Amino acid sequence: MSESMKIEKLKYYGIPSYILNIWEKHYSRYLLPLQEDAVKKYGVLDYGENEIHPHPALSPQGRGKEIAALSSKARNDKNRNLLVIAPTSSGKTFIGEMAAIAQVIHLQKIIYLVPLKALADEKYRHFKNLYSHCGMDIVISTRDRSEEDHHIISGDYDVAVMAYEKFNYFCLRCPHFLDIVSLVIIDEMQLINDSKWGPLLESIVNHIDRKNKNIKIIALSAFIEGQDALIKWFPARTLISYQRPVELRKGIVRDGIFKYITSKEKENYKKEVFFKPEAVRENCFEDYLLETVRYLVKQGESTLIFFATCAETQKWAKWLASQLESPAASCALKELKEMENTLSRDELRETLEKGIAHYNQNLSWEERNLIETYLKEGEIKVICATNIMAMGVNLHFKNVIIALDKIYIDEGNYPPNYQTSLTFAAIENMGGRAGILNVEEMRKDGNSFNFQNRKEFGRVIFLAHSLVFQTVYENIYFNFLKDNNYNHKANKQLINIDNDFLTYLLRLVVNVELKQEELKSHIKKEEFISLKNQSKSDDKNFLSSYWQFAFNKANIDKKIENCLNILKGKRLIRINRNGVLSPTGSGILIAAKRIKVETFLFLKSWLRYCKNGDISILEILFLLALSPDGKALPIPFSQAIRDDYKKGIYQYGYGKNYWNKLLRLIFEQDDEDKKLFRDKILMKKEKEETTSLENYITFKKTHLLYDWIMGKKSVKTIEQEYGLYRGCIYRLGEGFSWLADSLSAIAESVGWEKKINKDLSKIRMLSNRLVGGVQEEGLNLALLYIPGLSLYYIRRLIEAGYRDENFLRDASEVELGKLLPKRLVQRIQKKMKEENNHQKMLKEKWIVQDEKLKAFKKVPEKSGISGIICETCNRRNVNPQKMNISEGQSATASPVASLEPLLEISQRRPDRIIFLGKKIEVTSTEFSLIYFLAQHNSQVMSYDTLLDELWKDEKDVIYRRVNYHIFNIKKAILKTIGETKTNTERIKKILVVVPGRGIMLNLTDNELIINRQHAHAPAS
Ligand SMILES: Nc1ncnc2c1ncn2[C@@H]1O[C@H](COP(=O)(O)OP(=O)(O)OP(=O)(O)O)[C@@H](O)[C@H]1O
Ligand SMILES: [Mg+2]
Repeated sequence: MSESMKIEKLKYYGIPSYILNIWEKHYSRYLLPLQEDAVKKYGVLDYGENEIHPHPALSPQGRGKEIAALSSKARNDKNRNLLVIAPTSSGKTFIGEMAAIAQVIHLQKIIYLVPLKALADEKYRHFKNLYSHCGMDIVISTRDRSEEDHHIISGDYDVAVMAYEKFNYFCLRCPHFLDIVSLVIIDEMQLINDSKWGPLLESIVNHIDRKNKNIKIIALSAFIEGQDALIKWFPARTLISYQRPVELRKGIVRDGIFKYITSKEKENYKKEVFFKPEAVRENCFEDYLLETVRYLVKQGESTLIFFATCAETQKWAKWLASQLESPAASCALKELKEMENTLSRDELRETLEKGIAHYNQNLSWEERNLIETYLKEGEIKVICATNIMAMGVNLHFKNVIIALDKIYIDEGNYPPNYQTSLTFAAIENMGGRAGILNVEEMRKDGNSFNFQNRKEFGRVIFLAHSLVFQTVYENIYFNFLKDNNYNHKANKQLINIDNDFLTYLLRLVVNVELKQEELKSHIKKEEFISLKNQSKSDDKNFLSSYWQFAFNKANIDKKIENCLNILKGKRLIRINRNGVLSPTGSGILIAAKRIKVETFLFLKSWLRYCKNGDISILEILFLLALSPDGKALPIPFSQAIRDDYKKGIYQYGYGKNYWNKLLRLIFEQDDEDKKLFRDKILMKKEKEETTSLENYITFKKTHLLYDWIMGKKSVKTIEQEYGLYRGCIYRLGEGFSWLADSLSAIAESVGWEKKINKDLSKIRMLSNRLVGGVQEEGLNLALLYIPGLSLYYIRRLIEAGYRDENFLRDASEVELGKLLPKRLVQRIQKKMKEENNHQKMLKEKWIVQDEKLKAFKKVPEKSGISGIICETCNRRNVNPQKMNISEGQSATASPVASLEPLLEISQRRPDRIIFLGKKIEVTSTEFSLIYFLAQHNSQVMSYDTLLDELWKDEKDVIYRRVNYHIFNIKKAILKTIGETKTNTERIKKILVVVPGRGIMLNLTDNELIINRQHAHAPAS
């Protein structure tokens, strides 16, 4: 390949220089080969007329045809979508980022989807760091971060980073939020093959494709097995690349010799001597591992070793540390000393003495962050990790050793984890971590850069410690690696849903409108239906199927009927006059929260009988643990316990232990008259029903989480008492937080908001506390979402009197440094700085006078979307300054002060407005809207008022329509006066969207001229 493309050249794609500077500074001066392809051949940065995608249903009069034509063109052009498939670390994520920014600078809205909350946090911070200072509005929305949801609903953002699950929730609860979105980026698309994430991703893609033909999708995937199925199914062009920015030497170590191939030379093996053959014993994995690592460490190189399970990573890190004489990671050790005392910390302390660490799900965020930091610093040389950790983590090594022959899909032991043999795709993705890009070189001022001529290389190493392993690697993996055209069979993904049939049926009804008979035939057919199939996807009931759901086919018709009857009986679905099935509000809620139907019914029945004003935290936790979804949340426990239960040895052992503990708590709290406790614990005959394995786990989870959120015991004590690492406790807490959140949504849907507000708040608060095990008094600090500010440090801060952000803002670095590690202090101070800027921006945005404010403080919302806004405001205990316009801000003068009239409106010319002396064409609806706002200049006009005034005859309008027109007016103005950054900012401050409240035209009297046609024109 010839010279690499310079980032500077992206100016020809319309990217402004200040963005190019950011990219050059943060990445390098060149695009990676994959990125270059995406730009040149796949048009990820292209932006044309066609890229503006108003929803046809919203088209203003006079433009309907044009827009309809445009959208049908777009509809027929799935080529706008792009699926990128390339190994880890090949630079996929930056493709998504470039595409996002290319749209933002055209006033488009972008959604960036990631699977996990941790990845969302990271991506969000990344976007904020890079682009906030040039005025881009970046927001985040995950299961436990809803504080910016109202911005997403009112379209008040540029890039929204969302977790898959939350996006699905939005799609179902307020589908119109997508109307103004132009691009959805799906990162980590390889999860489509994962049984947990896959069906969710499939329904997300189905939703976007079916309901919003005008949205462009860019999906970024690492390699997956059966890639052809994805390519066939996904409605997009595909960019597949096996190319890597750094040359990889892939090979086998045998008798001390590393025999490898490179992508340039696949046929000729090359050799590198790692150690003498006599240094190792035949059939001895330890010897091979030790000698190989010893060689690499001696070269001063970093090495990542993949193992199959968490336990193995810990065991081998410890063992290697005991054998090697490598230097200590002294700065890492120093920092570790100041960190919270956990079981993992003790283990790390031992291995870091030799510059070695394990890296897995048992570690806390700070511990992982510490390892990442000191790997980059070069202090840590060897990391033992599970392959699950490889996803989306930005870690680079010179060498990767693949020391596993099978992969565990789920690390929990309950329900039992699956395992598959090591696949081609897994090897390629793990191998992707090898090879460190010489970014410094790429950043240097040079005329050209050519990846092909680079001398850097990375190694992917298999240890063939026996003859059999040598053959296995040569036969299977090595030959695959030689051949990039390895035939990916289009395997169909299978999930058994016998136990979840009810939920499966409900989700179907939520997704498509079918009659009972049609639904039956849909379920019974076993086709793989591609979204690429054009004629079918024009049908609004078309539903593609990537995953196939397997179930027992005996009596299937009867079974479906029974299930549908249950769903109807429980009022989760209904049938209209034409026989078409549709979901009720509760049905949609279940699908949106992604809980099982049985969980919903179980929680709802509890809500019905639990006493008003009397629920306790312990009771809620126990309830959630008993729900089918709560039972499905895994906690690891040893195989020994499982075996003993099987044999019946522990009939009176462990189970009774936690049962006893719970009993004590119940009596201590005077909770013994609670029906749930009476039915499930107190009235049970202890020998029979309290000692099953399932009960043991339920009791254990309840007790554990109770200890966790009460905060009376140290984390290490809890870890030791329950035999679990902190990382696991965190995950369990997060899962329960989601369930508590679902419980609060159900409670709301049955009217608790009005009737039993106190108890509802208790559930919501619990949902917050479960995430980090934080007590109520620490929530203010937890909700600042500062990475690494864990319960432990929050407690320290509170003890020292720092109760909320106001206290933190005034604190000096030295003061905080006495309580917290240095890097955490820096993060806090950075956050405080950001908050200050944010407050300033808010001040400028919401300049409303006192009386006006009072009138609009409580705008009643009618639409379904308002539920979410309320939920958001209540749930998050958000700083009132953020949600309401505070007294202090109200008196400030307009930031856009000038003597010139900015806006002139004349009733005689309802086809245009004059802005800064320039004529701007508007539609009649847009004119009415701006005219009405002008008559009420400087007042926030609620959506209800606007809808009543402007659309009173139409029944199905909702307020996103208002936002849509505001968006169009802004766009028209900018088109005329120039789409510069300053202008965009200026317009934002003039046509202000006050999240969740309404719209305001914000001009001084001098800036606005209204010419009325008649002296006595009606008010609207
Ligand atoms: N043009 C570039 N110049 C220099 N470095 C780059 C460039 N593009 C990406 N990088 C860096 O390359 C590394 C790998 O990129 P990235 O994480 O985007 O890969 P990926 O394909 O998304 O991997 P994964 O599958 O792990 O998500 C990152 O450290 C990133 O900062
Ligand atoms: Mg990525």
